[in-house]
Amino acid sequence: MKHLLKMLDLSKEEIISILDLADQLKYEQKHGIEHQLLKGKSIGLIFQKSSTRTRVSFETGAYQLGMQSLFLSSRDLQIGRGEPIQDTARVLSRYLDCIMIRTFDQKEVEDLAAYGSVPVINGLTDFSHPCQVLADLMTIREKYSVLEGLKMCYIGDGDNMANSLIVGGLKVGMKVSVATPENYEPDEKVMAFAKEYDTFTFTNDPKEAIKDVDVVITDTWASMGVESEKEIRQKAFAGYQVNDELMAFAKPHAMVQHCLPAYRGQEITEDVFEAHADEIFEEAENRLHAQKAVMVKLLQEN
Ligand code: CP
Ligand code: NVA
Repeated sequence: MKHLLKMLDLSKEEIISILDLADQLKYEQKHGIEHQLLKGKSIGLIFQKSSTRTRVSFETGAYQLGMQSLFLSSRDLQIGRGEPIQDTARVLSRYLDCIMIRTFDQKEVEDLAAYGSVPVINGLTDFSHPCQVLADLMTIREKYSVLEGLKMCYIGDGDNMANSLIVGGLKVGMKVSVATPENYEPDEKVMAFAKEYDTFTFTNDPKEAIKDVDVVITDTWASMGVESEKEIRQKAFAGYQVNDELMAFAKPHAMVQHCLPAYRGQEITEDVFEAHADEIFEEAENRLHAQKAVMVKLLQEN
């Protein structure tokens, strides 16, 4: 694995080996066992969008691995004044050992990797959010001990989370069902990938998608970059709220995952959120462990 750009690039074996290492690093951290595996290295964290979890988990994760991290807001970088990503990639590669980037267009992440000479990690684009999905799979496996054969559904917007969960879930052998309103489907490339699996189903009916699932996942109806569509989206997504009525169709022990930030009363009710808060905040914690595993893999194997 040279980069982490999107779930489509990873094999099942690569995903599982990241999760195994993440479990080990979590165990070590909880037991006070130091693991400064990347001492003396530096990672740059480019942010063109807001972040709470990604920024803080990458910064503290890097510190725990003995690395320096640099928070690089696009407001301060020359990128914000129009310096091309191709040049930024070649310059930063001469100072840093690894670059994480959160931006809009997936092409920018791909270009950063193509023009730079150090591993690149996608910290979220409009198309994908691989770091989050690795943390989600880790959290699901912690609860059920397996992934293969479990049934997961995603209800809501066909956004970066939907795109990444579909691919990640199918690759590790889960059954994946998705319900979005018309015109809010996941990306075409992801749908084409998913249609090759008889373990994938797509519907506009959330009750059908959630039937007998082990894991229920949702996300905001208005991702970063489309906030101006908030009102139109609230109408389009009205029947797609994860609430007690919908949860009654899932398996009784079903877990709920949400990448956060969550908008209570919109994609999820306060009651469902709070009933599953332990699972959701474990998922947030697992960003730290999963990303540490990604950094170790990328920097030790390259
Ligand atoms: N889930 C997630 O990526 O959170 P942030 O936007 O706070 O980084
Ligand atoms: N789909 C959301 C995820 C936030 C972590 C967004 O892109 O804003």
